[in-house]
Amino acid sequence: MKTESVVQSVAFSGRKQSLIEDARRDREKERDKEKDGERERESAAASPGPSHSGDNLVFEEKNSKVTLHLLFTQKNDKHAGFFKAGKVFETFEAKLLHLETRASRRCEKVSSDEVPQLEFLMRCDVHSSDTDAFINALRRVADEVQLLHENRVPWFPQKISELDKCNHIITKYDPDLDQDHPGFRDLEYRKRRAFITELAFNFKQREVYRTLTSIYPIHACRQFLDGLQQLERECGYGEQKIPQIRDVSNFLKEKTGFQLRPAVGLLSARDFLASLAFRVFQCTQYIRHSSSPMHSPEPDCCHELLGHIPMLTDKEFAQFSQEIGLASLGASDEDIEKLSTLYWFTVEFGLCKQNGTVKAYGAGLLSSYGELLYALSNGPEYKLFIPAETAVQPYQDQTYQPVYFVSQSFEDATNKMREYASTIQKPFTIRYDPYTCSIEILNEAAKIQSVMIQMRKELKILHCALERLEQR
Ligand SMILES: [Fe+2]
Repeated sequence: MKTESVVQSVAFSGRKQSLIEDARRDREKERDKEKDGERERESAAASPGPSHSGDNLVFEEKNSKVTLHLLFTQKNDKHAGFFKAGKVFETFEAKLLHLETRASRRCEKVSSDEVPQLEFLMRCDVHSSDTDAFINALRRVADEVQLLHENRVPWFPQKISELDKCNHIITKYDPDLDQDHPGFRDLEYRKRRAFITELAFNFKQREVYRTLTSIYPIHACRQFLDGLQQLERECGYGEQKIPQIRDVSNFLKEKTGFQLRPAVGLLSARDFLASLAFRVFQCTQYIRHSSSPMHSPEPDCCHELLGHIPMLTDKEFAQFSQEIGLASLGASDEDIEKLSTLYWFTVEFGLCKQNGTVKAYGAGLLSSYGELLYALSNGPEYKLFIPAETAVQPYQDQTYQPVYFVSQSFEDATNKMREYASTIQKPFTIRYDPYTCSIEILNEAAKIQSVMIQMRKELKILHCALERLEQR
């Protein structure tokens, strides 16, 4: 139930850091790159030039090799062109995985006694650092060399250690660079920010903690309150003591398998979401400027420790967070933007129904006194969480949200999220292997069979457990 008064006593100032904005910028950047690529290809048709296989057009990377899908036609010197192409493969030690030929569509009207010009479709592995040189060399001996984009999948980490490669740090709110940052003119603050947690936390933390915890019992969901209680009991959460990220991370790992990874800055939406797939939460360590203890335009340790961490102690919510992360792996830029929007309206600003009352579970709400009161007042509109609709809802980062999405339960939200993820177009299916903390790409019958064998073993354990229960 909403409270009677529209509370906006704490003025919202400044812009919030938003994954959606980051994802949109990445998509637009990629679109510009595509346009540049088209221009390059046009000029390459006249003379061999640089290929458009830039750094982030990685298809499948394994042991420093990338898999390329190529289409090309022979030069006018007929079949000699094919052998010359073979020489290029030999020179670059490219491993041919698949080869198909067909009559070139350009030369359909050949007389019956004439051999048609052929098009070659090839799949091959080549050393990732040789990709550009390899394609350029091929263009010298073959016509219309094209990298096929249908199978192009953005690189994503498959092992937890590969999160090290997620380094697209964005410094949008860096107080050294951003004149709008409240700490821009505060040299002492900027100096202090370079240090890690123990220097960052100061007495204002107490004010934040005291103010927020005073309204949690009425407005926060049950899972959040349970999590916070455990963190106070076991991790030193409280007004007086600031928990260490390592302790909180160890605690979370035991509870739900989530762990915290200290982030030196903000990550791109793609990298941030990819971390969630491994149950890794990228955690900022700095604290908001003391001039505005109740508001921060960027995520800070108050937002992470008070807003996110209590929820990550809940198994269902942890699963829900991971589902968003898994859906993001290999997704197109457009889908990353949609998933970022879903993340925004759930993990950051989500509401849920408990015993007929609407409660908050989003970290953006639970770390903002003003917005938490506003979200649960009569001011905003409530909508039911339906991923396909939530994913395209315009968001607000200049003031409080006009619309919030309400989930029935985390289990319901997780199921809906999984269903939505299955509609995202990808040329493969992935599975998270909890034993090795890695992503398995199920693109071969043998791999699928191996997972089925594993699942059968798990089912046997359950069957055995049920039988023993019945025997009691
Ligand atoms: Fe957040």
